Amino acid sequence: MNADLRSSADSVLARLVGDPTGTARLREDQWRAIEALVAHKQRALVVQRTGWGKSAVYFVATSLLRASGAGPTVIVSPLLALMRNQVEAAARAGIRARTINSANPEEWEGIQAEVAAGEVDVLLVSPERLNNPDFRDQVLPKLAAATGLLVVDEAHCISDWGHDFRPDYRRLRTMLADLPPGVPVLATTATANARVTADVAEQLGTGAGTDALVLRGPLDRESLSLAVLTLPDAAHRLAWLADHLADLPGSGIIYTLTVAAAEEVTAYLRHRGHTVSSYTGKTENADREQAENDLQANRVKALVATSALGMGFDKPDLGFVVHLGSPSSPIAYYQQVGRAGRGVEHAEVLLLPGREDEAIWQYFASVAFPPEEQVRRTLDVLAQAGRPLSLPALEPLVDLRRTRLETMLKVLDVGGAGPPRHARGTATPPPAEYDRYQLQHKPPTPHHTHTHG
Ligand SMILES: Nc1ncnc2c1ncn2[C@@H]1O[C@H](COP(=O)(O)OP(=O)(O)OP(=O)(O)O)[C@@H](O)[C@H]1O
Ligand SMILES: [Mg+2]
Repeated sequence: MNADLRSSADSVLARLVGDPTGTARLREDQWRAIEALVAHKQRALVVQRTGWGKSAVYFVATSLLRASGAGPTVIVSPLLALMRNQVEAAARAGIRARTINSANPEEWEGIQAEVAAGEVDVLLVSPERLNNPDFRDQVLPKLAAATGLLVVDEAHCISDWGHDFRPDYRRLRTMLADLPPGVPVLATTATANARVTADVAEQLGTGAGTDALVLRGPLDRESLSLAVLTLPDAAHRLAWLADHLADLPGSGIIYTLTVAAAEEVTAYLRHRGHTVSSYTGKTENADREQAENDLQANRVKALVATSALGMGFDKPDLGFVVHLGSPSSPIAYYQQVGRAGRGVEHAEVLLLPGREDEAIWQYFASVAFPPEEQVRRTLDVLAQAGRPLSLPALEPLVDLRRTRLETMLKVLDVGGAGPPRHARGTATPPPAEYDRYQLQHKPPTPHHTHTHG
């Protein structure tokens, strides 16, 4: 029976990767994960390098599960926009996907009706939705009851031990608790060290003592050749890049540390005759889509991007990644260079570090999470009020801007058990847990929290 399942799985894969000769085969571990999910309804944690083919696992599993009558797959992913091209690939394999995000609330009802009518195979949900009261109360319960497979992509985002913690991911626990028994769960990531893996496993119920399948492969990316070039200052780096960009293979990504740098570099390279566009958290949605398409079709030599163009982005023939400035962690570096050389034998990766890089990381770290004094003042104000306060009421009392206040409340929220404390734009007094939180955890990585969305 599983031999039949396997040949179906391979044929879905061939359509997914657009392989006309039909010779593409699932990697052995891709198959093991698919079999665990589909045949045994197990939970699985897949930690495999960038470009390994983690999405293929959940798209192929979806296709097989749907064929056996299961409900739609729900995929929670932090950079939904970057999955646009993978959703198109899934469509080639006959998988119908819809997206629920903050930009399309007017479509939610229609999408729910389509789900009920069995017309949706994959529902992509951004983690922010899990924290949205309307979504949580009206959409999530029905979804949890109907889903045939829950996928947590970039699962390291659930751990505040990781490099890219996103507080909204914590709400996955609620969704897991609402899942009927026997619904398989798949968590995938390329970047989880042992500590993060253990944390993810614990939170998603794939840890020791469960019958979950854990697959972990090597991180090595053989197609990438890595280099570092140290130049005196930013002007030299830019000039060097303008002189050598044309020599780099195919098209690629130039990463900068800030939005302003991305825009400046784009302007300068254009001035020097290169076809480049910028891609940052400030880029309008329509322009992002255009930029992604231009890169996919090699109509631009490069996109000059911040981390907004990061995890999950798949252009199989991406020829190079250049860093103008070091990313703030080796893991962020690994994720970003991982965009290159996914489906080709060779890609160039070049780091041009700057003396000012560390000051930039420190700046972002300092704005990411308010200093202890402000956190304490906020907790005091809430304790004195003794009742829930709306964010507009709280804001002037604590001297924090709305976005920072919201981030802070979300992070504090995860320190203890209990219901969300700022549902419907209100905040209630949390227990005194700030010390413990600060001692044990690190705040979210800053420049990721403001570039996605
Ligand atoms: N078994 C396979 N044979 C050939 N190509 C494959 C196979 N599995 C996946 N691919 C292709 O490999 C590329 C990378 O896959 P995918 O985007 O799923 O990687 P990933 O593991 O999710 O990486 P990341 O961690 O960067 O998100 C895709 O273009 C996909 O079509
Ligand atoms: Mg991926």
